[in-house]
This record gives sequence, structure tokens and C-alpha cells, in this order.
Amino acid sequence: MIKNSTSSAIAQAVNILHQGGLVAFPTETVYGLGADANNPLAISKIYAAKNRPANNPLIVHLGTLAEVGDWACDIPSNAWRLMQAFWPGPLTLLLKKQPNVAAALTAGLPTVALRMPAHPTALRLLQAFGRGIAAPSANKFTRISPTTAAAVAEELGDVVDFILEDQACEVGLESTILDVTQNALNIVRPGKITATAIAQCLQSDVLYNTSENIIAPGMHKLHYAPRTPTHLLAPTEIQQAALTHAANNQRVACITRTLSFTNKISQLDIFAMPLNPEAYARQLYQTLRTADNLNYHTLLIERPPQTEPWHAINDRLNKACAK
Ligand code: TXA
Ligand code: MG
Repeated sequence: MIKNSTSSAIAQAVNILHQGGLVAFPTETVYGLGADANNPLAISKIYAAKNRPANNPLIVHLGTLAEVGDWACDIPSNAWRLMQAFWPGPLTLLLKKQPNVAAALTAGLPTVALRMPAHPTALRLLQAFGRGIAAPSANKFTRISPTTAAAVAEELGDVVDFILEDQACEVGLESTILDVTQNALNIVRPGKITATAIAQCLQSDVLYNTSENIIAPGMHKLHYAPRTPTHLLAPTEIQQAALTHAANNQRVACITRTLSFTNKISQLDIFAMPLNPEAYARQLYQTLRTADNLNYHTLLIERPPQTEPWHAINDRLNKACAK
């Protein structure tokens, strides 16, 4: 059931969470599929709803800084500085977990992922519930994350007890995940908060984790993926590729920032994307979802610039196109 996030809807959502049910809710990044992070049975429902392998840990969402100590221990001063600077907001921190944190949540890892989302509805829900909500993105395993309530319903349908609806997700891509448990600070998933922003805040180096070692299954290669065969092409290649498909009588969609045709070419549709990275990120998942639902033979995506503001976008595009 989709409900506008009024006070009474939030109270209803809190009740469902207390009863061990699943509530999807908007965050500033993407919609989350939430369950009481202290209830192992509720947590297991998240894995079942998503068809998510049990060895892929979840992020615990918090509504206040006072709760951080319930989940993490040996918290470095760096981490507190980052929470002060970036929370509420799209930054997830990997911290050493408290011994009593359920293994189901962390997939048996010694760390726990914590984040305080900035979306007002997410914060109201978290503060009304009063404790941690475990929430992955509200999509099926490997699929495109939802950025609207309708997309959540399309992904999860009846397996979610309640969907809180509110203004669309402003960031549009999942949070940056930063590992602060090691001496070297490592971004294990890029997002809106860049290495440069974190380095500036802490006055120390921050690395993007470029190793091929998959530290969690969620980092594996195929992810955020349309069902339609999808290819990432250089701006200089996409026009020719599109025309070749169209000439072969194959319906093709171009998701592009720069390509345009003065005359409409049958078989070929253009999805025009914004030139700036913030607007592009906000629109990306809904565009992929819409194009995927139109049953093209192929989706062609123009590779955006390779600069840092585009880093998270390139990460998701590479994974959407992974074989
Ligand atoms: O923006 C977001 O972070 C969204 C919204 C809903 O908050 N959530 C989200 O959750 O993207 P999910 O489950 O789709 O992605 C979380 C990623 C997964 O790849 C998981 O493997 C990783 O975080 N993760 C969680 N706990 C971890 C841990 N202790 N160590 C390493 N990776 C972890
Ligand atoms: Mg996800």
C-alpha cells in the first residue's frame, strides 16, 4: 500500500516496524526497504523480499547521533568529525560493530554500516521509531534502485507491507560508503560525497578502493542492471552505433548528454540527459527504468566525463553494463 507521508502514515509505519513488518521509505539517495534493525526475523524478511544473498550486509539508518554507540564501538575521532560535517546526508560509515549487533545484519563481518539520511520523511520515521532501521535499496537483488514510490511498488509489489511516498529522491544515487576502521581511509562505494570533500574535512588522504577484491557481495560487478542489453559508449561512438542498430531494424534507445538528431529516425529514441552531474544523477535510475520497460532491443548510454563529480555515476553505469 502506497501512502502519502502524513503524520498518521508515519505512525502507521512505526507500528508496522514494531510488529516486525517491512516499510519502504524515501531517503535523499534512493528508497529504502526498512525493518527493525534489532529484530532478526524482520531482517530476514528484507533478504527474502529482495532475493538478496544472506552474505550481503545491511546499512543501519539512525535518526540521532546518540544512537551511534548502540551499534559501533572504538569510534575514531575522524568518524565523529565526518558525522558532524556530513550527517544527516548521503555518507555511510563502516565502523567496528558492537558485539551484540545481530550477525544477520552485518553478514558476520566485524563492522557495521551506519548512516543518518537527510530526507525529512526518513528522519521523521527514524525519530518516531526511536531506534535503528535496517534498509537496503528497495529493489530486487542486482536491479535498478527505485527513486519513486511507484518504482518501489513495481520492484517489490506485495512483499512490502507499506510504502511511504514523498518528494522524489534528490541525490538519486546511493550513499558514499567510507571505511573508517583502517589506517587508510577507503571509499568502498562512491557517491555524492566525494573523496575530495572527505579529504578536505579531515585534512588527510582518502582513496577510492580500486582493488579487485570484493569486500562485500553488494560490490560485485553486475548491479543496477536493466534487463535490456545495455552498452556504454564514447561520445564519438554512440551515433554510429545507434544508426547501425536502427538500420538493422532494431529498436534502440540512446541515453545521451550530447547526441541529437534534427529529424526523428524511426527505431531510434533519444533520452536526453542533463549536462551537469547532480541533475544527471537525480534522473539516471528513473530513465534506465523507463527505457528498460519499453522493451528496446538495446540501450546505448553515452559515457559521461571521467572527472571526480561523475565518479559515482560512472561506477553505476559500469555496473549496469557489466556482463
Ligand atoms: O543510499 C543508500 O545507502 C541506500 C539508502 C536506502 O540508504 N541504501 C543502500 O543499501 O544503498 P544497499 O543495501 O542497497 O547497499 C549497501 C551496500 C551493500 O553493497 C553492502 O554490501 C554494503 O553496503 N555494506 C553494508 N554493510 C557493510 C559492511 N559492514 N562492510 C562492507 N560493506 C557493507
Ligand atoms: Mg542496493
